[in-house]
Amino acid sequence: MKDGNLTDEVLTEEVFTEEEKGIFDLYPELARVERRNQNGWREIKSFVLRGQRLKDYQISALKEHFHDYAVVYDQSRCLDFGQVFGNGNPVVIEIGFGMGESTLRIARENPDVNYLGIEVFLYGFSKLLANASKENLKNLKLMRFDAVQVLQDMVADNSVDGFHIFFPDPWPKKRHHKKRLIQKPFAELLTSKLKKGGYIYCVTDWEDYAKQMLEVLDSVDGLKNPYGGFAPERPWRPETGFERKGLEKDYVINEVWVEKV
Ligand SMILES: C[S@@+](CC[C@H](N)C(=O)[O-])C[C@H]1O[C@@H](n2cnc3c(N)ncnc32)[C@H](O)[C@@H]1O
Repeated sequence: MKDGNLTDEVLTEEVFTEEEKGIFDLYPELARVERRNQNGWREIKSFVLRGQRLKDYQISALKEHFHDYAVVYDQSRCLDFGQVFGNGNPVVIEIGFGMGESTLRIARENPDVNYLGIEVFLYGFSKLLANASKENLKNLKLMRFDAVQVLQDMVADNSVDGFHIFFPDPWPKKRHHKKRLIQKPFAELLTSKLKKGGYIYCVTDWEDYAKQMLEVLDSVDGLKNPYGGFAPERPWRPETGFERKGLEKDYVINEVWVEKV
């Protein structure tokens, strides 16, 4: 599960206010979003860090509820979901939840499913943490770290019931396609983490990325597409913030749903 060349954790390169720095003094692990090798070498990443000043309510929520909701990246720890959530319910991991509006609603409406949301964007992470704590949700945990490394290092094979990847960054320019999350090695990683019968649910409003998702997920051994193409919309999936922006531009939403056989 470990990549021996990647050992060092590094701080992010964002610029922080004094108040935000105070949060990192309290929780230094929150300032790290990835690890690099000893020479500072960074693999191709699916994200760039966006800075947005935290609001007072986010800072207060972090101070009061960090330990109730945050799971901290630790390369040497394999997550025991029973221990993390305090029950043996199914576990769904969402990658890149953004502002977390749809994550919050899905978790609220499915109290018998545990959700682990992974997002590098501190503003979104803190917003969802604040909203989850307001509702005292017990079936939601959050990580601020590169989801690829979390899966590689901390998630056991055959342990996850589903993955939600809603509107991953489309990286529209051809020279940036290599940054797209849904590529064969990552799809194989997701598949290895799924239990038999588990699902991968991806949605995008970027047409050629939608086709890429279908092709990539079709090419992975051990996955089947029950629809033979794009899936019908899941009525339980709330509209996301990113989706709203696409719909305003009349973009077409495509859904891909595959299952592990
Ligand atoms: C286009 S936004 C969509 C957000 C949300 N799902 C929505 O639909 O509104 C994609 C999000 O994925 C996050 N992201 C991209 N790569 C990631 C990674 N490797 N690990 C964690 N988050 C990632 C980005 O920070 C960004 O917030």
